[in-house]
Amino acid sequence: MADKPTLTTSAGAPVPSNENSLTAGTRGPVLMQDYQLLEKLAHQNRERIPERTVHAKGWGLQGTFTVTKDITKYTCAKMFSEVGKQTEVLSRWSTVAGEAGAADAERDVRGFSLKFYTEDGNWDMVGNNTPVFFVRDAYKFPDFIHTQKRHPRTNLRSPEAMFDFWAAQPESVHQVTILMSDRGIPKNPMHMNGYGSHTFSMWNAAGERFWVKFHFKTQQGHKFYTNAEAEKLIGKTRESYQEDLYNAVEKGEYPKWTLYIQVMPEEDALKTPYNPFDLTKVWPHGDYPLIEVGVLEMNQNPDNYFQMVENAAFSPSNIVPGISFSPDKMLQARVFSYADAHRYRLGTHYEALPANAAKAAKVNHYHKDGAMRFFTNDFGNPDAYYEPNQYDGPVADAGAQEPPLRIDGDMDRYGNPQEMDDFTQPRALYEMFTDEQKQRLYTNYAQAMGPCSKGVKERWFAVLEKVHPDYAAGVRKACEELDSDVNAVPITSETATDAEEVNTAPDTV
Ligand code: NDP
Ligand code: HEM
Repeated sequence: MADKPTLTTSAGAPVPSNENSLTAGTRGPVLMQDYQLLEKLAHQNRERIPERTVHAKGWGLQGTFTVTKDITKYTCAKMFSEVGKQTEVLSRWSTVAGEAGAADAERDVRGFSLKFYTEDGNWDMVGNNTPVFFVRDAYKFPDFIHTQKRHPRTNLRSPEAMFDFWAAQPESVHQVTILMSDRGIPKNPMHMNGYGSHTFSMWNAAGERFWVKFHFKTQQGHKFYTNAEAEKLIGKTRESYQEDLYNAVEKGEYPKWTLYIQVMPEEDALKTPYNPFDLTKVWPHGDYPLIEVGVLEMNQNPDNYFQMVENAAFSPSNIVPGISFSPDKMLQARVFSYADAHRYRLGTHYEALPANAAKAAKVNHYHKDGAMRFFTNDFGNPDAYYEPNQYDGPVADAGAQEPPLRIDGDMDRYGNPQEMDDFTQPRALYEMFTDEQKQRLYTNYAQAMGPCSKGVKERWFAVLEKVHPDYAAGVRKACEELDSDVNAVPITSETATDAEEVNTAPDTV
């Protein structure tokens, strides 16, 4: 007994019992003065915080990023300042639509969030395992998410709503093709890529700006589950990703990704046949090849999942000198949305929580007071609580300002201009698939669209027709076959016979 610490109240006083209530007699009622019992029950009532409105189910690790190639000609960001430099990182991967208790191996896009604790403050890369997105305007994001969540009356997910929405947004076909392909159910986050997806910018010490895309390529190879394998797996465990990640790190098998960037000189943005700031488009590798930057290694399980992963607040607004935004209008909206979500979900001072506090930089700001203000700004003089002041309080650093960016154009709401070609890039993707991959694509669609009305199916086939007639015909045939055989057994992959034996796709770097 002697070597165990004493249990205390949250105010630090020793607790006489953690098992027996204070009662009037052996059979008597509990006394109001058993404060510790009330405290214990009250704490339990406050154990849940709002789950993320999207990406609620997630898994996180800690690790490091190491620079392997010099990219200082593109950026003055300190974390890339020399080969060999290491930066501490927090990761969180997630599914988009499911609630916090959803099964891991569900068909969905995966979030790929990284927080780099750099010496110039935290840089967050809040991406997905896909290089594009379903919509290109933030007005459409809440509606899109409504179609992914539960129907207000049935309280069930609604394939009819999903495909009704997508059919009215042909720009979504690129992302839906990826979602319905093998990459729609990665084996776990270790076997998928991460993409910044948006176009970002970098600037160098000479003040030159470049447009940049981020690609984190898995070193473990792409592996995926077919629908049938995932169904079988979920029947055994809903937590397969958490199990895989936790166990890999405990065994010392640390997952790694190679960071590449694509770089576009600032003036090229006016010349590309596609809008380089359109989130539904990639930059073809042939035009903008991948440039190696470094290695991400995730090698530590957080000691407390809630503290480090649930409390993590990733935001595209967290940039550092040398890295910035682009005119992508979806990115611009995200710059607002995340911090707003964090204040709602975690509270005013969410940035001071251990997962979010800068580690390699000193934080100095003049924000004052507010709920849970548990830290002080110690600038060496308590009179320096406003700015400008005569007490040597912190001052802005004009050197952190990015180079000026020329913006012009007539103010309007532009919708989908004629030059938007939403079909060439999904066609290139479709044409890359092998016959087996195409067959699985068709079957995945048939199973996803099974409950949809004929009208919605026809509207989606019309979108696919514009990508490739074979694509539309393949999905139509698979849907008809499934309709005519309600007892059809979902296809499995050519190779896998058991959920543990997963499929491996060749790495195409
Ligand atoms: P490339 O042949 O150079 O690149 C093809 C890319 O497709 C590779 O990056 C590959 O792997 C990726 N890929 C393979 N299978 C899938 C899948 N099921 N779902 C998503 N991506 C997959 O050609 P381009 O650069 O000209 O691009 C052709 C098409 O490939 C694009 O229209 C786009 O749909 C897709 N793509 C392009 C990317 C890019 O940044 N250019 C990135 C990813 C996809 P990996 O992810 O390992 O790069
Ligand atoms: C989470 C909004 C588009 C990736 C979130 C959250 C919000 C949000 C409010 C919850 C944040 C939290 O509570 O911590 C939006 C809006 C978008 C958008 C308004 C479009 C305008 C995107 C895109 C990507 C993306 C395009 C990927 C390229 C993520 C990821 C998370 C997330 C990975 C989870 C972050 C984490 O791990 O904590 N989004 N999102 N989102 N979003 Fe978005």
